[in-house]
Amino acid sequence: MSTRIIGLGAGGHAKVIVELLRACGGFEIVGLLDARSDMCRQMLLDVPILGSDSLLPSLREQGIGTFFLGVGTVGDASPRRRLYELATNHGFAAATLLHPSSVVSRSANLGKGTVVMAGAIVNACASVGINGIINTGAIIEHDCAIGDHVHVATGAKLAGSVRLGNGVHVGVGATVRQGIRIGDGAIVGAGAVVVRDVPPGVTVIGVPAQPMKSRDDRGQG
Ligand SMILES: CC(C)(COP(=O)(O)OP(=O)(O)OC[C@H]1O[C@@H](n2cnc3c(N)ncnc32)[C@H](O)[C@@H]1OP(=O)(O)O)[C@@H](O)C(=O)NCCC(=O)NCCS
Repeated sequence: MSTRIIGLGAGGHAKVIVELLRACGGFEIVGLLDARSDMCRQMLLDVPILGSDSLLPSLREQGIGTFFLGVGTVGDASPRRRLYELATNHGFAAATLLHPSSVVSRSANLGKGTVVMAGAIVNACASVGINGIINTGAIIEHDCAIGDHVHVATGAKLAGSVRLGNGVHVGVGATVRQGIRIGDGAIVGAGAVVVRDVPPGVTVIGVPAQPMKSRDDRGQG
């Protein structure tokens, strides 16, 4: 019997998850919820957009108990954290999803709601917290310890024993040297190479990665 599932958010990330669910099999995608009223009653890859989050209680009453998040992040993790908490507070369980073409070590540990996209690799003894995105082709090497609500974007690479706090974003194509620690809420810019620890809340860019100047310091304030 297939698992009935709903998605919160109907953006580009939702398209990728819908196709991942179809590749996995065993799911009936009931619909997507999105706060944007103009999207209501439209379709996304043949999945209906049902309406806003206000439908969560009635969907739960209809016996649907599983959800995924159809919104990604490009930095700030708080929208995904908020939606995750909203759905779980309504009694839904987050689906942990592995694309059939991903490689996840048996000794790795993935938290609830974490998704591992096509071609990504999570190697031996690595751990990822809840509601993570290990995006297309990303590599998480052995013994990495990753917090909750983290996005390791497409093609990013973490060498062995890297530690990421909660809500960290590692940008598309970035590389992080072995053993580095990156604090809660920090952002690693696209293509950066991180060779020093990054404090919480700091955005780093470049090769080697350096803290990004504020708008004022860049003369745009
Ligand atoms: C680092 C980042 C968060 C900064 O975003 P932002 O605050 O909106 O920055 P802006 O685009 O206004 O750029 C500000 C300046 O930083 C530079 N910059 C921005 N991102 C950079 C990066 N990754 N590497 C080098 N320089 C960068 C810009 O060229 C600009 O320089 P200028 O002031 O000399 O013109 C963002 O650019 C980034 O890399 N995000 C990750 C995106 C990602 O991973 N997407 C994947 C989704 S799957």
